[in-house]
Amino acid sequence: MGVHRNSKSALIFNITFRILLLAMKKIALINGVNLDRLGIREPAVYGKTTLSEIVSAVRAEAAKFGYEIADFQSNYEGEIVEKIAEFADSGITLGIINPAAFTHTSVAIRDSIAGSGIKFIEVHISNIYGRESFRHDSLTAPVCAGLVAGMGLEGYLAALRYLVK
Ligand code: DQA
Repeated sequence: MGVHRNSKSALIFNITFRILLLAMKKIALINGVNLDRLGIREPAVYGKTTLSEIVSAVRAEAAKFGYEIADFQSNYEGEIVEKIAEFADSGITLGIINPAAFTHTSVAIRDSIAGSGIKFIEVHISNIYGRESFRHDSLTAPVCAGLVAGMGLEGYLAALRYLVK
């Protein structure tokens, strides 16, 4: 009986440890509203790179460092809030987020980042500080570890490289 109980708890420990290990090697990549339209949407501002090209490039770069990417895009604020909580509960501790227009409006996403325990880097494809004044304020950046703006796809890769170091 005792032996069985011990081996059962060893097994549970082992599985839990493996799950945690897998989760530890994942980086969240979250893109907000309208970023599913990249490539088509205002190419003069955002370039012609599509979201799936960005995700593939970040995934390939992450793989070089032994990390997996857990990616998510949504046009709905609440879905992003729920996904941040889900990623946090799964044990993910690192993330890259481009909240897009939610950057300038969403106390909800700010609060979910702040409460997640995930170290996020905020990325913007365009230089939000060189654009309209309503884009100069980010509600989410103060609860992120850093901010990259105006470097397009390279900004996502820079954020990734910072996080894995
Ligand atoms: C953006 C900048 C935001 O101001 C804008 O609303 C976006 C994209 C960027 O990546 O440059 O949708 O986050």
